[in-house]
Amino acid sequence: MSQAQSRSCGPVQAGRTRTAVEVTVGRPPELLRLPGGLWLCRRRSTHAVALNRAVRANLDHLRPWLEWAAEAPTRAQTAELTRAGSAAWEAGTDFMYLAGLDAEPGGVIGALGLHGRIGPGALEIGYWVAAGHVGRGIATAAAGALTEAALALPGITRVEIHCDRANTASAAVPRKLGYRLDRITDAAVRAPGETGRQLVWIKERPPVGTVGICR
Ligand SMILES: CC(C)(COP(=O)(O)OP(=O)(O)OC[C@H]1O[C@@H](n2cnc3c(N)ncnc32)[C@H](O)[C@@H]1OP(=O)(O)O)[C@@H](O)C(=O)NCCC(=O)NCCS
Repeated sequence: MSQAQSRSCGPVQAGRTRTAVEVTVGRPPELLRLPGGLWLCRRRSTHAVALNRAVRANLDHLRPWLEWAAEAPTRAQTAELTRAGSAAWEAGTDFMYLAGLDAEPGGVIGALGLHGRIGPGALEIGYWVAAGHVGRGIATAAAGALTEAALALPGITRVEIHCDRANTASAAVPRKLGYRLDRITDAAVRAPGETGRQLVWIKERPPVGTVGICR
């Protein structure tokens, strides 16, 4: 649910807060290096042109599941989005990332976000991966790294991933990361592929003193 343009500003879905609140006094890493030359970096205004190009090149792939992909964003809109994202990072309400590959310098192959919109003590992860890079484990690796980064933040004990029941590719990501399916809720249909039945996946920080107990 990233680039998270309108999702965090759109109509409130069940369990989501409208007002962005600082959910942690900490900040996640600005750069995460993952196996295979995959990296996640804090999204900045300097990325606006590359991000706009990547989104426009993937609209057909994103449109069924992401309401903000209904229209092709202008460069000015993406520039404004990245400015707002930087302010949200400083405010500690949302942490937006771009994904890329060492093998493709300057290219954006996806985007992810940690969103403080599901109440205190929790962050929701959103994501998209460019059509030309799907099915290679990129969303799973990236969401896995952000799950760990989120649960390492002060005051964050829960991470959630929400996806529509029909979005089987997306549902495979929290499943593979060992999230538990907490509930299935009714949700506003906001993109053409959606059914209005939303899967809510949850991962919690293990209680203190239990980490490593089974190792
Ligand atoms: C969902 C999305 C992020 C997955 O990205 P990805 O990098 O391909 O994901 P991964 O490769 O890590 O894992 C995807 C899993 O879904 C499976 N998958 C991929 N396409 C699938 C499909 N159409 N139906 C069912 N499963 C599918 C893959 O097989 C893989 O599972 P496996 O590793 O067990 O084989 C990507 O398809 C996307 O950006 N979609 C459009 C935007 C979107 O839906 N965002 C999420 C909104 S909730």
